[in-house]
Amino acid sequence: MATLQALNSADTVALFGRFVIPNYRRFPVNLVRGEGCYVWDSEGHRYLDFFPGWGCNLLGHCPPRVVQAVQEQVATLIHVPNTWHTDVQGRWAQMLAERSFGGQAFFCNSGTEANEAAIKLARLHTPKEKYKIITFEGGFHGRTLGSTTATAQPKYHEGLGPLVAGFVYAPFGDLDAVAARIDDETCAIMIEPIQGEGGVRIPTREFLAGLRRLADEHELLLIFDEVQTGCGRTAHWFAYQHFDVTPDIMTLAKALCGGLPGGALLTTREIAPSLRPGMHAATFGGNPIAARAGIATLETIEEEGLLAQAAERGAHFRRRLQALQAQCPLITEVRSVGLMIGLELAVDGAPVVEACLRRRLLINCTHTTVLRLLPAMTLTAEQVDEGCDILAEALQSLSA
Ligand SMILES: Cc1ncc(COP(=O)(O)O)c(C=O)c1O
Repeated sequence: MATLQALNSADTVALFGRFVIPNYRRFPVNLVRGEGCYVWDSEGHRYLDFFPGWGCNLLGHCPPRVVQAVQEQVATLIHVPNTWHTDVQGRWAQMLAERSFGGQAFFCNSGTEANEAAIKLARLHTPKEKYKIITFEGGFHGRTLGSTTATAQPKYHEGLGPLVAGFVYAPFGDLDAVAARIDDETCAIMIEPIQGEGGVRIPTREFLAGLRRLADEHELLLIFDEVQTGCGRTAHWFAYQHFDVTPDIMTLAKALCGGLPGGALLTTREIAPSLRPGMHAATFGGNPIAARAGIATLETIEEEGLLAQAAERGAHFRRRLQALQAQCPLITEVRSVGLMIGLELAVDGAPVVEACLRRRLLINCTHTTVLRLLPAMTLTAEQVDEGCDILAEALQSLSA
């Protein structure tokens, strides 16, 4: 079997310097292996990962059932075009429908692709003169041009204009402002039910229910981008179930395939036929490997009782982080739903991320001052404590 000799971190960083486009800010570490809630670098250091795969590895690194399903599938059938049927894609769609609001699925490979499909479907399903989509300040929907335009954050638009026509931005949480922006050309409202990249901002149930009401009154489609919140992250299958407000279209990716690439759009049987043959496609969408990984992910969550475990671990995190807030004036707010956790700081978060990295804990900082944790559902109570102790020490070292 062909194997690649692992390089050390310094040589790997040098290789990137020469041959990889520097569009990411990367830590100077070469990660070579992952298992459960830990990853290892090429120097043999072990890191506790509270941000595994940017939220994609919701079952931890290399979850055994997903690994086994993918190994089996890769030796059987890797890819066939969507001009054929595969039972695995059909079963995956059925499992998603049974755990959400019924309906039908379109499969793709990433979150931004799922959102592009949602944007096109909203325009296709509504009368021709309707094309405008209302999205929200601080939101994040991906990096293709449509999703970037849907992302109402000027910093992501710099130098890219002209953007896609027809997006209208509203303040997150302000129902009157949304109502004021609806006109005869509006076809949809698109929102993350909890803003992730925007800093784990949690709306009220009344706000989301109000969007549902406005959508019904004005015959608009309500699109929930659950790329980050979906598939068990909030200790429900989907965040809309937490708020008891059902969208017309929901987009998924990140944790959908247990760490492998995969995306999906789910919608009702009435809306689905508007994405008619010839209007949209994804060559690799719903391929057998993604489908097997997706099925294994759902089965793992169910059979290992991970939704209940996520609720328990989420509550444990909350208790620990609120206790930390009481001692540490740098933390101004703790926000969390299940295992989607944000700590608002009074200072820049980047030095805290660095201080944690030096202590071998991986976390994220978003919107300058928000520490974001998207840990795996498989985390043990001891690992929650281990990581919270490291975080406390890192914050203490900085406040000193
Ligand atoms: C809510 C949300 N939507 C869309 C995306 C884009 O997903 P992808 O990077 O898979 O295209 C992200 C990524 O962070 C996200 O958090």
